[in-house]
Amino acid sequence: MTDTGAEALGTGRPGRDAEHAEAQWWRQATVYQIYPRSFADANGDGIGDLPGITSRVPYLRDLGVDAVWLSPFYPSALADGGYDVDDYRDVDPRIGTLEQFDELVAALHSAGIRIVVDIVPNHTSNRHVWFQEALAAGPGSAARERYVFRRGRGPRGEEPPTDWTAAFGGPAWEPVGDGEWYLHLFAPEQPDLNWSNPEVRADFLTTLRFWADRGVDGFRVDVAHMLAKDLTEPLPSKDELRTEGMPDGTHRLEDRDEVHEIYREWRAVFNEYTPPRTAVAEAWVPAHRRSRYASPDGLGQAFNFDLLQAPWDAAAFRGIIEENLELADASGASSTWVFSNHDTVRHATRYALPAGTDLVAWLLSGGTDPRPDPEQGLRRARAATLLALALPGSTYLYQGEELGLHEVADLPEESLQDPTWKRSLGTERGRDGCRVPLPWTTSGPSYGFGPGGAHLPQPPHFAEHSVEAQQADPASTLAFYRRALAERRRLQTDETLTWHDDKPDVVRFSRPGGWTCVTNFGSVPVPLPPGRLVVTSGPLEDGLLPPDTTAWLELPATDGRPTG
Ligand code: GLC
Ligand code: CA
Repeated sequence: MTDTGAEALGTGRPGRDAEHAEAQWWRQATVYQIYPRSFADANGDGIGDLPGITSRVPYLRDLGVDAVWLSPFYPSALADGGYDVDDYRDVDPRIGTLEQFDELVAALHSAGIRIVVDIVPNHTSNRHVWFQEALAAGPGSAARERYVFRRGRGPRGEEPPTDWTAAFGGPAWEPVGDGEWYLHLFAPEQPDLNWSNPEVRADFLTTLRFWADRGVDGFRVDVAHMLAKDLTEPLPSKDELRTEGMPDGTHRLEDRDEVHEIYREWRAVFNEYTPPRTAVAEAWVPAHRRSRYASPDGLGQAFNFDLLQAPWDAAAFRGIIEENLELADASGASSTWVFSNHDTVRHATRYALPAGTDLVAWLLSGGTDPRPDPEQGLRRARAATLLALALPGSTYLYQGEELGLHEVADLPEESLQDPTWKRSLGTERGRDGCRVPLPWTTSGPSYGFGPGGAHLPQPPHFAEHSVEAQQADPASTLAFYRRALAERRRLQTDETLTWHDDKPDVVRFSRPGGWTCVTNFGSVPVPLPPGRLVVTSGPLEDGLLPPDTTAWLELPATDGRPTG
């Protein structure tokens, strides 16, 4: 098969072009997110581990992803699923060892798959040696300067410094018993670091080098928009915070312009390596602010959660795609596309619910009110994914979506692990429903997740969603993902796209080389555009493209290239 991408690059300077292509691998990659504790458990203790992932590298290779992103695997008490890091330069003993990490990197690399690790710079865990030192050292110490300690209000400091609330519910300040309080914008076990402290900055550069030296290809940067904070007194109240300077870079706690000074330092470290290490920012900021994170002298790429938050609607999809391609173009980045991750209700389930469903309330109802339509959800999820895979840019996939997994919305309350559940006093169930261990086989104590149980209970329907059940079925979601990823590799060329506007309910565009993608968002079947059918997200109806379905077609090349 002719690879037009390689051909286009092969214009006489093979060495340099190969190096350039190597450095640009991330621009149109498919990146598969692994939540390590829920992927595969090699030793049967119910918790997924690094040897488990290594044993599944052939699965990832057959799936056809370009890179794997590992959510945190560092030592942690799991107050927030590992996003409370005790030590940034080690592996949680329940997950493995550094040696096993090296083995995983080697196995992935020899399968042609890159590896991205999660860096959590906004906060450490409260068990981190720095935080322990800060508690012991007392007010006014250099150790407390690594975090955000403030004296409480009231004569003995018995009131929190402000009325701010934390992301998982409850107050954002915790008293330490000597009149001082520390800031935690997430759980109390996640004290926020003070990024104006040079020692904090230097230490993270050491961490980046530590993993880059071990062969890590890139980094996913957790809550990248919150590191820089303006904490000059007087501190605003919660209400003032909401209305102050957003979104122009002057909000006290989020998306401040000076955060990019930090990422310029990081970029210098990334560029010490060949190829340069990559990074993607998790920054929940408005679209027009995103390009700052994605600039080439910063992190290089940023998650775009717009499609994840969009209703199933042609105009909404088209608008978001247009805007994000323009923004990425303007910043020199490539765009990213995401429908699911470890923080959100799985997209097969979101699309199973009526537009505008309050997901928090729906989860609280145990997934029964309103009643989901799982077939519609999966149909739309497959159509959405196939559409995104045809777009220029990187697509981030979340483990289990290739199996068509749905959110497990009825986990027993006593099994819930997400801090949201307790911190919200039982008013928000949290994110465990998308973190249930993967089913690999149709039977067994944990459907092949491991030889033992699973740390979150798997529902019986996981049997029919298992890898084993789908492996040999050409109509399965797994077979569909494999086909789509393989064809994408073959068809992917440069990052341009041409729109074809025919009907309001149809989104159609083409890419160079005669690759066309068409999605029917409407309620009646529509004719297909010309071309040879390459992949569809679902069966056609009498040769027509049914509602909630995407198709890829390939036109015979005009340059005489064989089309297969
Ligand atoms: C990010 C992570 C999320 C975590 C939070 C705090 O949003 O994706 O899982 O809870 O940061 O670290
Ligand atoms: Ca294990």
